[in-house]
Amino acid sequence: MTPLNTSSWQSLARHYNDLKSISMREQFALDAKRSSRLSQECDGLLLDYSKNRVTTETVEKLMRLAEEVGLPKRIEQMFTGDMINETEGRAVLHTALRNRSDEPVLVDGQDVMPKIRAVLAQMRVFCDRVHNGEWSGYTGKKITDIVNIGIGGSDLGPAMICDALEPYGVEGVGVHFVSNVDGTDLSTTVDDLSAETTLFVVASKTFTTQETLTNAESARDWFLESASQADVAKHFVAVSTNAKAVSDFGIDTDNMFEIWDWVGGRYSLWSAIGLPIALYLGMDNFERLLEGGYTMDKHFREQPLAENMPVIMAMLGVWYVNFFDAASQAVVPYDHSLGRFTSHLQQLDMESNGKTVNRQGKRISYETGPVIWGTPGTNGQHAYFQLIHQGTQLIPVDFILPVNSHYPEVEHQNILLANGLAQSEALMKGKTAEEVRSELIKKGYEGDALDALLPHKVFTGNRPSNTLMLPLLTPEMLGKLTALYEHKVFVQGVVWNVNSFDQWGVELGKQLAKEISPELEDDATISDHDSSTVGLIKKIRELRT
Ligand code: F6P
Repeated sequence: MTPLNTSSWQSLARHYNDLKSISMREQFALDAKRSSRLSQECDGLLLDYSKNRVTTETVEKLMRLAEEVGLPKRIEQMFTGDMINETEGRAVLHTALRNRSDEPVLVDGQDVMPKIRAVLAQMRVFCDRVHNGEWSGYTGKKITDIVNIGIGGSDLGPAMICDALEPYGVEGVGVHFVSNVDGTDLSTTVDDLSAETTLFVVASKTFTTQETLTNAESARDWFLESASQADVAKHFVAVSTNAKAVSDFGIDTDNMFEIWDWVGGRYSLWSAIGLPIALYLGMDNFERLLEGGYTMDKHFREQPLAENMPVIMAMLGVWYVNFFDAASQAVVPYDHSLGRFTSHLQQLDMESNGKTVNRQGKRISYETGPVIWGTPGTNGQHAYFQLIHQGTQLIPVDFILPVNSHYPEVEHQNILLANGLAQSEALMKGKTAEEVRSELIKKGYEGDALDALLPHKVFTGNRPSNTLMLPLLTPEMLGKLTALYEHKVFVQGVVWNVNSFDQWGVELGKQLAKEISPELEDDATISDHDSSTVGLIKKIRELRT
């Protein structure tokens, strides 16, 4: 089933031809209510999508496309535990992890909610014991530092949340994330820590990931420099689906927190993979995060498509990717504490929708997931915004603006917010040649000097953005924001008819790395690689000291 054959896609293609030269500036001038008409709110989280190249008709057509590809049915299938991850034969139930209702969620006829609640209870008991010192280190000292060892979904989501909610941190507990197999990551982290007071959380859904196991083994070696084997149990816990591998590694399965195959890695921060979050922020705050996710889930499941924030954002994305040929999407939070938000979204979006075959295994002939990128404002303004304003590519931007800060610098906050608003206004309005001319004349320019400078100072404008505004970055709000993007990615996957929940594209590199690793040894036989790879292997052998 290709979306290209739907009547709404064809209608959108015709509509695009009529609309592509319409100016947003004019649209705003014609309609004083444009912003309120093209805004949507979900429990304090506001989406203003009026600075997009759309009319009411465009939005209607986009929603018709969502209907035509069967989105409402797919949403229900996800929430009710259908096996929608077909290539891995699994249901997709991150929404069950944050289900705060009494509603059962069935997988193969079994309600998964009791298991989820049992693990949440286990996490609560464990966090409380660590926080009150009942669970102490091998010398009886309180645990002061949590080191999460994991990669991809077992790292990015929890790290992002811990950074963002630092003001909610439990006193006396620090959190660190080690993901990269580059030894620098682990070494520089443990350098400042004491084995007596450090707790390692080894987080791996499969417990087979090379980077994580290598880091975990080295962490244990570091720990054993100060402590004995018998002390390992107090300092290493695991989060996984794989009890056997956890036990083979030497972690007592009593100290393992279970997750299940229907929790996708990049959607797993809501599960026990969120243990470092709960240890750092306290279990109450972790549950507040779940509440926020649940609020967005209800919104997504219950709101009509045209008033549904994830659906609106997803369909606008489809509009730009498939009709305007936008190859990337910038996400720019005007909140320094959301520094890792875009990295988390990169895995969420690009691992989900970076696909070239459809769910039926057929090659597709339209664009799918865009490149997701961005860094917090205002830093990005002094780096890549030039290209967004005046470059040749169309790059839609999501601005995320928390109005209040946890840090009491009111003046800074005003400047920060003003900059966020200024960017979205400038992108939309641009600056015409006439406006530049009169500005230059006022500055005393004339003649050739004026003509030479003028074109460089013109902004075409008409560059789209969304603004997500929220009162304050609380655990609930971050839960909503994160779930919003998860559902946006899901909706786009439905439109593009791809499986957003597998990630076969990361396998080949993993396989080859395992093959190449032993070949880096001096006398090892080098197998049949291309001449570049062989040459580089030899060069590594030559250069290694
Ligand atoms: O990068 C591929 C991937 O499978 C991700 O989807 C996953 O989040 C990550 O590796 C880590 O996997 P695991 O939690 O099994 O170690």
